[in-house]
Amino acid sequence: MSDSGKGESPQGDSGESLPRSGAVRYVIEPLSTRHAVASFRSGAAYLDWYLDTQARRLAAADVSRTFVLVFADAPSDGNVPDGVPIIGYFTLEAGIMPTAFLELPEIQRHAIAELLPGAAAVADGSDPLAIALKELPVVYLACLARDRQYHGKGYGGALLVAALREAAEAATHIGAAGIFLVATEEGARLYRDYGFVAFEDFPRKMFLPMPDVRAFCAALPNVNTV
Ligand SMILES: CC(C)(COP(=O)(O)OP(=O)(O)OC[C@H]1O[C@@H](n2cnc3c(N)ncnc32)[C@H](O)[C@@H]1OP(=O)(O)O)[C@@H](O)C(=O)NCCC(=O)NCCS
Repeated sequence: MSDSGKGESPQGDSGESLPRSGAVRYVIEPLSTRHAVASFRSGAAYLDWYLDTQARRLAAADVSRTFVLVFADAPSDGNVPDGVPIIGYFTLEAGIMPTAFLELPEIQRHAIAELLPGAAAVADGSDPLAIALKELPVVYLACLARDRQYHGKGYGGALLVAALREAAEAATHIGAAGIFLVATEEGARLYRDYGFVAFEDFPRKMFLPMPDVRAFCAALPNVNTV
């Protein structure tokens, strides 16, 4: 898990003084028209483009949900000329994942791994209760990024924890075996810290089973500070 004790004396590259680590209060809220999407720069062009041009359209079409992390003292009315600055964001979608993940040793301790022999048992008729799962329903973490002026301050971890909480909540209403994502190199480091496991032949594809998501949510304090 990220060490929130790192990043002493944080100061944004833009020059503004920020409170010391552990004292910056933020809120997570659904993306809306009050947020400054065009000025967001994460260092990953696709993720900036997605936030600027796709996130609101896809949310309006019920395809995805995007949440932004903003300072808690950001103005709450529409009276901000350029929009409320976005520190970071993440996007969630309903998704599916290949069952090959169930063969990974890290997944074997979960109840879901017991479904794996289903295909063979269906094929040979040996287990009348077996179901042949070809894909698993999951929460798909489509995007996650912080603006690069907040590099190295722990906002990636704050965003990921918020995404875990949203996914755990969603999974109480609709079945989802875990969180699935395709990571960038930078992202893979963060996700590994939180226990995500990678496909052996495609290490950027990563998965965290829902019992682990719930365990993280129960263990992590809900303080909304970095
Ligand atoms: C992936 C990402 C969200 C991770 O964010 P992050 O964990 O907050 O880390 P940052 O990238 O801002 O900074 C990394 C550095 O901060 C350090 N760090 C991590 N958590 C920290 C904390 N709580 N306090 C201080 N420093 C911290 C890391 O050790 C790392 O140090 P290093 O550069 O010396 O190795 C971020 O790198 C990002 O937005 N990248 C661009 C978009 C992207 O690739 N997104 C992932 C899509 S799958």
